[in-house]
Amino acid sequence: MTDRNTKQPPQGQAANALWGGRFAAGPAEVMERINASIDFDRRLYAQDITASQAHARMLAAQGIITTEDGAAITHGLDTILREIESGDFAYSRALEDIHMNVEARLRELIGEPAGRLHTGRSRNDQVATDLRLWVRDAIDSLNAGLRELQATLIDRAEQYAAVIMPGFTHLQTAQPVTLGHHLLAYVEMFGRDRGRFADCRKRLNECPLGAAALAGTSFPIDRERTARDLGFDRPTANSLDSVSDRDFAIEFLAAASLTAVHISRFAEELVIWCSQNFAFVELSDAYTTGSSIMPQKRNPDAAELARAKAGRIIGAMTTLLVVMKGLPMAYGKDMQEDKEPVFDAADNLALAIAATAGMVADLQANEPALLAAASAGFPTATDLADWLVRQLNMPFRDAHHVTGALVRLAEHEGVGLAQLSLAQMQSVEPNINVGVYDVLSVEASVRSRSSYGGTAMDRVATAAEAARQRFLAGAGETP
Ligand code: ARG
Repeated sequence: MTDRNTKQPPQGQAANALWGGRFAAGPAEVMERINASIDFDRRLYAQDITASQAHARMLAAQGIITTEDGAAITHGLDTILREIESGDFAYSRALEDIHMNVEARLRELIGEPAGRLHTGRSRNDQVATDLRLWVRDAIDSLNAGLRELQATLIDRAEQYAAVIMPGFTHLQTAQPVTLGHHLLAYVEMFGRDRGRFADCRKRLNECPLGAAALAGTSFPIDRERTARDLGFDRPTANSLDSVSDRDFAIEFLAAASLTAVHISRFAEELVIWCSQNFAFVELSDAYTTGSSIMPQKRNPDAAELARAKAGRIIGAMTTLLVVMKGLPMAYGKDMQEDKEPVFDAADNLALAIAATAGMVADLQANEPALLAAASAGFPTATDLADWLVRQLNMPFRDAHHVTGALVRLAEHEGVGLAQLSLAQMQSVEPNINVGVYDVLSVEASVRSRSSYGGTAMDRVATAAEAARQRFLAGAGETP
């Protein structure tokens, strides 16, 4: 950063040109360092300029400033936008934040009219407006990323709709399922995540601009107009609340945290599945790294990092909750600490979503290993118990007991349930007949679970198509 003013001693330094009227001296060096937010809030430059232009147009339309001054301000701000985007803007820490950096530059560019821009507003409503606009953009881009992740999961689910794998509870083999079914479970989670972001977006989409410092303004401003101009649904209703509310940022971080938790669960499964002891899937060189000492290694680093991102994102949510806890009305400088956690969470969630989508597209299922794993550990025991209920009219509890005895027998013999002879089965339950073998294969087990939302291959194929309709139809608006 080019800094016009970093290491001056407190004595002799000029007071701030924008608010320093009653100040004889400048800040201590450490005061400047703790006070300045420009190093991070410069990311709000586009929102700050857009909101200032809307404000200037409104001031001119209301006759609060002249049309000429309004035009000079909006053109000057256009120039500043170009300067910033081409890297030609000199940020100054002495000017504290993005708002004052932009305004000071505007004064250099257009002179006196620049000083009229801040009529009827304050940095308190200004920063609240800018951050809402920024979070709204972040929500839209995260929504697009999640939609892309869902699209990739649905494609792979369709491809793997009939690939059998073990379904786990307690990470113990429970019942066979299909890989497609498993992938579609995440499509549901990310769909709910998109819904939470959409919900947050609806509530944040009110415009605080014009609340001024905390009490409103005596100028005849038109808050409906600036709200509309900036794409907000309406102006916020209470000026105190307008400058003190950071719910929108906290809700955003809560939605981001839950999404990150979902990402971390999938990433953890990828890590497990890639391990040689499972070997359920393989990730290509594109998503793995080697070891500097062990030549055989292929580490799923992207999955591990996606798994870890939940830590910092939940940390960001906790940070802002604790910053806001106990803050009296209306604005407190504490609230300047809202930006870094919001930016960091948004950046890292976007990265984790993109990396996860990349891995989903990249992974190759090891179908023989999945089938072998699905066949181990008596995964069709429930099917056997259900058969006893259906064919022999046994109460389920008794069938559970008989099946348990058959599992014990098979375990003792070192075979699967389907390899027990009929005589061996009848030694446990004399009424069992040869029909039982129809339900003991994992294929038959999966095929039979055709209830709505179940794992049967046909069901999964239909569910993938239904998910496409539910989540991907339309231009990508949130569900
Ligand atoms: N940089 C400040 C922030 O991020 C802007 C608002 C400052 N308001 C004030 N009254 N000092 O919160």
